[in-house]
Amino acid sequence: MARILVTGAAGFIGSHIAEQLLARGDQVVVLDDLSNGRREHVPAGSVFVEGDVRSAADIDRAFGALGGPIDAVCHLAGQASTFRSFDEPSWDMEVNGVGTARMLEGARRNGVGVFVFASSMTAYGPPPGLPVTEDMRCGPISFYGVTKWAAEQAVVLSARPESMGLRAVAFRMFNVYGERQSLTNPYQGVLGIFLGNVLRDEPIRIFGDGEQSRDFVYAGDVARAWIQAIDGSPEGATVLNLGTGTRTSINELWRASVAACGQDPDAWPVSYEDGRPGDQRHMVADISRASDVLGWAPEVTLEDGMARTVAWARTDEGATR
Ligand code: NAD
Ligand code: UD1
Repeated sequence: MARILVTGAAGFIGSHIAEQLLARGDQVVVLDDLSNGRREHVPAGSVFVEGDVRSAADIDRAFGALGGPIDAVCHLAGQASTFRSFDEPSWDMEVNGVGTARMLEGARRNGVGVFVFASSMTAYGPPPGLPVTEDMRCGPISFYGVTKWAAEQAVVLSARPESMGLRAVAFRMFNVYGERQSLTNPYQGVLGIFLGNVLRDEPIRIFGDGEQSRDFVYAGDVARAWIQAIDGSPEGATVLNLGTGTRTSINELWRASVAACGQDPDAWPVSYEDGRPGDQRHMVADISRASDVLGWAPEVTLEDGMARTVAWARTDEGATR
């Protein structure tokens, strides 16, 4: 049984990781300021500390909340929206950049050995080819991508013996979806937004021509990779893509979302609007390194994961999210 600190677990992906950790018997403390998360998403059985990852005092409160040393940190708290990062780049940099550096300092102060970080495919920017491998150069085109890349590189640097000597993993996650992704929040991922639109009988909005494409990976599969990283990542720093290797266009996604809710895509109202700043065109992950290093592979297809998400959205919990 290990003691794990998960930041951002009142949010979407972190709540899946905390849930899986608790299910296997670990003790979990959650640090989240509830700025974009919900207290109800923090899984029962975890200890909740309401606080800010930019505050050393809040971080130390979280490190002390389980009454014993923390074995690993899963750091997910942050600003997650690509296009929102254009509204206030300084805020994005504070939360994602300074917040991550403060968490690293907290890990060092509290003697933690393992640090796993939520990086993003947006760190790459437009890639030189598809699928994207971890060796490709990074050139982000959004402030969000810049801060994720900078924070990721700080995490990588923390593994060097002369800095912090952590066992560090940065997951460049592609587009994660699943239960507890908001159906109402315009700053969360597109699949939750589309399902919310259909279930509320609203038109769907497409930014650009809808032919841009993404790699959608189910949150339960992602959480499994994080746990495998805690248990068995190599010493030093490791950067890994987390996706499926399958590319889906936004036009394909909206049609599948309408169909998954039992409606006719040909009859659904859709508007096409201007593209958003920082929007990447095509992205799909090469996931062979995660397979080689962790023995990880995604198990849930987009069709099955979407069906699970729709089933959740139709529950009382989903209906209000
Ligand atoms: P989310 O918004 O649901 O979760 C983020 C959580 O962090 C929220 O609960 C929020 O309240 C909390 N938070 C924000 N600022 C904070 C602060 N200053 N102090 C403490 N808590 C704070 O987002 P998500 O989709 O679950 O994403 C989780 C992480 O994974 C983010 O760092 C995001 O950038 C990254 N990521 C997400 C995806 C994706 O597809 N959703 C892909 C790649 C990377
Ligand atoms: C998403 C995640 C980001 C993560 C990245 C990694 C969110 C909010 N963003 O960014 O945290 O790091 O994946 O892959 O979780 N779109 C529409 N209509 C809508 C909403 C979106 O057409 O109503 C389009 C967008 O313009 C974009 C695509 O759908 O082309 C995906 O958008 P979005 O889900 O916001 O995610 P990313 O920017 O890819």
